[in-house]
Amino acid sequence: MSVSLRDVAKAAHVSVGTVSNVLNRPEIVAPETLKRVQATIKELGFVPNGFARQLRSGTSRTLGLVVPDVSNPFFTEVARGVEDAASKRDYAVFLCNSDESTVKEDRYINVLIEQQVRGVLITPADTKADRLDAMRERGISVTLLDREIKGQKQCSVSVDDINGGQIAIEFLASLGHKNIAWVCGPESIPQVSDRGAGVTKAAKMANVKIETIRVALMNTIQGEEAARQILALAKKPTAIFCANDLLALGVIRILSANKVKVPDQISVLGYDNIDFAASAGIPLSSVAQPAYQMGITAANLLLDECEGGDDHRHQQIRFQPQLVERNSTAVAPK
Ligand code: RIB
Repeated sequence: MSVSLRDVAKAAHVSVGTVSNVLNRPEIVAPETLKRVQATIKELGFVPNGFARQLRSGTSRTLGLVVPDVSNPFFTEVARGVEDAASKRDYAVFLCNSDESTVKEDRYINVLIEQQVRGVLITPADTKADRLDAMRERGISVTLLDREIKGQKQCSVSVDDINGGQIAIEFLASLGHKNIAWVCGPESIPQVSDRGAGVTKAAKMANVKIETIRVALMNTIQGEEAARQILALAKKPTAIFCANDLLALGVIRILSANKVKVPDQISVLGYDNIDFAASAGIPLSSVAQPAYQMGITAANLLLDECEGGDDHRHQQIRFQPQLVERNSTAVAPK
């Protein structure tokens, strides 16, 4: 016997109208009530018939894609892969930008629920999966993209970022660099913390010194700020490893403006291998992520789940990063 809206209201000791608000306009419900009703929905396994019928009938041919930064070419390439795969299977894609903010992300999640999308691909702004349950409880499938949440049962596509950080430092150490700056964003970004773990592991094994320069955002402006901090150091590093290519391009801009020769005086290594990396003034060495392929793979996993029904089996697909050596890295100066 399926659970009704009335059953949820009775069990949570609220009105049917409140349950409807929890489902459709959670922002107007008192936090305590919202939490209690959501827990009751989960406990009773309630799925709103309207949503489920609409979604199961297959009348919704739209997907949501929520990424942390649409201005980062890495996510543009991922989105290109998602859209190519989705349009091939006759689905449209709503692109949402969260700016790594859970508040903004929740707002988009509510919009995608209202739009009754069939499924959502998301790079979550944090690792608490309960916020994603709001979509699952309405019959919307969710696939994680470029992140995975341990223990959560859903499909995901990610990259082994710990290995990515490790191969970066191993590469720079093999060029003779003993003092390396690690330029990265907030530790709260899972990719940053994973890359940092790889950096630490490889630095210990190669016996090289790491100077961590942490900035607020993973963009070129913050890369420039990191470069200024590095130039102010009494003992400058001979190599700089950046958590993504945008940071690296900003670092190179300031080093060049201060007549520091890249790579003769300081090597610079990025992460992502975005298209601009190869065509930059000094072609950037980078730890490549298969962004386009990640998008294609994640979209097909999600659509297989949306269309596969009960015999769908979740998959967690993890790609390996690869080093691409170009002109921004060289043997350590004597
Ligand atoms: O969102 C920050 C970074 O994580 C991006 O540059 C890309 O590397 C992603 O994996």
